[in-house]
Amino acid sequence: MNLLITADYRELSQAAGQLVAQALLHDPDAVLALPTGETPKGMYEALIRLYQEGLVDFSRATAFNLDEYLDIPPDHPQSFSAYMRRYLWDHVNLAKDKVHIPASLPEDPEAECIRYEELIRKSGGINLAVLGIGENGHIAFNEPGTLWETPTHVAVLSQETREREAQAFGRLEHVPTHAITMGIKTIMRARRVLLLASGEEKAGILARALSGPITIDVPASILQLHPNLTVVADRAAARGLAG
Ligand code: GLP
Repeated sequence: MNLLITADYRELSQAAGQLVAQALLHDPDAVLALPTGETPKGMYEALIRLYQEGLVDFSRATAFNLDEYLDIPPDHPQSFSAYMRRYLWDHVNLAKDKVHIPASLPEDPEAECIRYEELIRKSGGINLAVLGIGENGHIAFNEPGTLWETPTHVAVLSQETREREAQAFGRLEHVPTHAITMGIKTIMRARRVLLLASGEEKAGILARALSGPITIDVPASILQLHPNLTVVADRAAARGLAG
């Protein structure tokens, strides 16, 4: 594991943006898996800046989102597709037919999971998966208890995850109960993983994920077994890590 500890969120965002840009410079056809959440917003900003400066080109890249809520329309302001339009898609030259996110209103959610997993496979697999970490250790929407072998699947959101989103959705009852998420197996197959963590509220779970036992109770702990993991954490999030 490569661990990069930055002074603050701004530096973390710049470092993460540069790592993604490097991946695209090295391989313009790279297949990326991309996260949502608060943490990657600064990384997307950094990437947009690099794009505007002509330093990075997305035209040949493929981007898969890690996950999407179920049962809300794609233009719902809290949908992950709305998030991605706002923070990345509308601002860089990603080709429309190479941007993928699970459908939020699929006729058959199970079939949508199979379609998504197959699309990832057909695109040659993920070169770089960028991940955040939930306070309960989830990666994408792989909640505690998810089996290691799961491909893209319908996930039941934990109470904790839904409570965290209650404010954004107005009230708890409006937060979706399910999502489609890349599975742990899908993520572990990525050739490289970049895990981002910021802020003191992530310090405890980051330490458990990276130095505690590998257990399905902390889904991110499986990343200890990934052969090419880079962790970028700001000082506040890295407080519990040795070195
Ligand atoms: C969300 C997403 C994850 C994300 C995590 C942490 O629910 N499904 O992909 O990494 O929670 O989010 P944040 O960066 O806002 O702390």
